[in-house]
Amino acid sequence: MARTALRGRLLDFVGDPAQSVAAVRLVDDGLLLIDNGRIVARGEYRPLSRALNPSEEVTDLSGCLLMPGFIDTHTHFPQLDVVASPSGGLLDWLTKHAYPAEAKFADPAVCEDAARFFLDELAANGTTSACVLGTVHAQSVEALFAEAHARGMRVVAGKCLMDRNCPNELRDSADDGVRDSLDLAARWHGKARLAYAITPRFAASCSDRQLQLAGELARARPDLYVQSHLAESESEVRWVRELFPRARSYLDVYDSFGLLRERSIYAHCIWLDSIDRQRFAQSRATAAVCPSSNLFLGSGTFDFRQAVQSGMAIALATDIGGGQSFSMLAAMRAAHDVARLKGSVLPATQLFYWATRGAAQTLGWDDQVGTLEAGAEADLLVLDLAATPLLARRTAAADSVEALLFALMHLGDDRAVRETFIAGRPSKRRRRATLSGMAAVDSARSRELALRFAGRLRAAPGDGVLKP
Ligand code: GUN
Ligand code: ZN
Repeated sequence: MARTALRGRLLDFVGDPAQSVAAVRLVDDGLLLIDNGRIVARGEYRPLSRALNPSEEVTDLSGCLLMPGFIDTHTHFPQLDVVASPSGGLLDWLTKHAYPAEAKFADPAVCEDAARFFLDELAANGTTSACVLGTVHAQSVEALFAEAHARGMRVVAGKCLMDRNCPNELRDSADDGVRDSLDLAARWHGKARLAYAITPRFAASCSDRQLQLAGELARARPDLYVQSHLAESESEVRWVRELFPRARSYLDVYDSFGLLRERSIYAHCIWLDSIDRQRFAQSRATAAVCPSSNLFLGSGTFDFRQAVQSGMAIALATDIGGGQSFSMLAAMRAAHDVARLKGSVLPATQLFYWATRGAAQTLGWDDQVGTLEAGAEADLLVLDLAATPLLARRTAAADSVEALLFALMHLGDDRAVRETFIAGRPSKRRRRATLSGMAAVDSARSRELALRFAGRLRAAPGDGVLKP
């Protein structure tokens, strides 16, 4: 592949903006050189452009921000078809929407189709890496890894361990769950840019024995990630207290089984007390904060101030399909709004950090992605500051990096993502919205989807009735 030269405004972080104002690095007229999937040089357009061969073409992205691709630290690929479904809260949503959708992933063809669509959608939104939950079926994760591998993506994924409190067709057993996890890890962990995560779905869906085996595996294999849900909604927390009466807290359930450690990623982390927060910070686990999902499901509001004060490692996440947007910009603005509800102001630079370098750092990828440093993998995002008339007008009026990023995260969406580079390869496919209202890679596929759903719409008793 020939070298790629991109000219634009370069933005990345050399550290945590909470620690130092010098952590944000902006080059107004910059040049990035990409070769063989990696950034080989970065800097001011002049003088760096003098090092180009006369025959080398420079892609002019002036007016765009070139930055590291987003890292979504918690999302569910099998929940595509239930994104934006109404419910009376987390447990109701799981029963009504998530579980029935996931049951369809017994069919490998469903898994393969969803994996393609899901990864297209990530790229369309500027997300270059993700930590992804499959279903209980090993074939779901097999399909996701195969598709991510073909695209050269950095992906962490795992099959859900769930041996109780769920529909029969989604239930594994403690032993089968660990065996399937080990098989998948043997096939995919460490292959190219892929990594396996031991994935107990949440404490309520796992027996003691399942958590114990998962914990033993986590201890035996510190190279594997762990991912799960923690303290998301109040009714869930009450339920977990009933199921594990001897545990001090929800966090303590995972901790007592050896599942809280570096490379453990816990989504939500809302209903924690100060002892939990301290223990979480000490364990060096990652809090994957999913504010869009928390607002959508009415789960609660993450306490950013207390989490930062206690030293918890924070990264942002969409939590598709509890979250209703694939866009990490939407996750950032929801985070901002949630913090405001609790009386704090989260700077945009902090939120962009948590969606890029901060996430990379807590996952152990800090020199590989989340940075524009020479030598890093070329996972990049090109944000068009003039993607819409309002965005153009508002960003032109910004007088600081903070003001620019603040406007961008509140006004931007996938229209602002001009291109997404995965390991140096342009990966945002041009997709068309069709008459059916469905976005699809090609019109034949979208027509097929439209036909599949045609005639299925009917009014259900109680639809549209206010349910307090
Ligand atoms: N807790 C257990 N499973 C899930 C899930 O699929 N989504 C969310 N948001 N929370 C969960
Ligand atoms: Zn989740």
